[in-house]
Amino acid sequence: MRAGLLENLLLLYLLWICFNGNQTFKFKMTNLGCDSFNKSWVVYTECRLRAISRNKTTMTAFVMVSEPAYNIFVRARVLRKANGYKPWIIDYTIDACKFMRNRNHPFAKIIWKLIKDVSTINHSCPYNGLNGLKDFYDVSTMPLILPSGEYLLNLTWIFDKKPQFVTNVYFSYWDD
Ligand SMILES: *[C@@H]1O[C@H](CO)[C@@H](O)[C@H](O)[C@H]1NC(C)=O
Ligand SMILES: *[C@@H]1O[C@H](CO)[C@@H](O)[C@H](O)[C@H]1NC(C)=O
Ligand SMILES: *[C@@H]1O[C@H](CO)[C@@H](O)[C@H](O)[C@H]1NC(C)=O
Ligand SMILES: *[C@@H]1O[C@H](CO)[C@@H](O)[C@H](O)[C@H]1NC(C)=O
Repeated sequence: MRAGLLENLLLLYLLWICFNGNQTFKFKMTNLGCDSFNKSWVVYTECRLRAISRNKTTMTAFVMVSEPAYNIFVRARVLRKANGYKPWIIDYTIDACKFMRNRNHPFAKIIWKLIKDVSTINHSCPYNGLNGLKDFYDVSTMPLILPSGEYLLNLTWIFDKKPQFVTNVYFSYWDD
């Protein structure tokens, strides 16, 4: 794991939020992009947002992994819209197998808390077969306070050091 400056900055940011937080916010997923670069290994079987109400969408995404993946990294980037999507503070490459063993990466932990109850991924490596999440929408446990705006969470899934598929989650975030 790259335990670098960025991670320390994120920790400080999280601490700062603990003291300044408790603001309420609105969050809505607005678009979803799913792409496999290597369909002989990974194929998306589902990828959709469903509108539940004017302010709320749910996300369902599943991939079929045709051969066990033992070495998995995910590059998680957040981009913010300003004349197109521009890289924002968050850009981590996380060892997913290690994370599932010790749950010690601060950003991965935030994502994990959000999805753990609606996903099938609560086990250690390897990953094989159908994996994904169903009807995800609840972000009330998210400790991050973001500036209002349009964001893209760009997740690139890397097996055996090669990018295999990508999940792009577009969302709006604003103070309430
Ligand atoms: C694509 O997937 C196959 C397994 O089906 C794997 O052997 C191969 O290395 C992958 N190609 C790349 C570029 O990752
Ligand atoms: C949706 O947004 C409208 C206006 O912003 C608000 O009045 C309404 O209560 C919201 N509904 C939900 C379910 O949050
Ligand atoms: C994840 O799996 C572990 C071990 O099987 C279990 O103890 C834990 O409760 C599970 N967590 C969730 C959120 O399902
Ligand atoms: C997300 O990142 C991957 C590379 O990691 C890139 O190929 C893809 O274009 C990015 N998606 C967007 C919408 O920027």
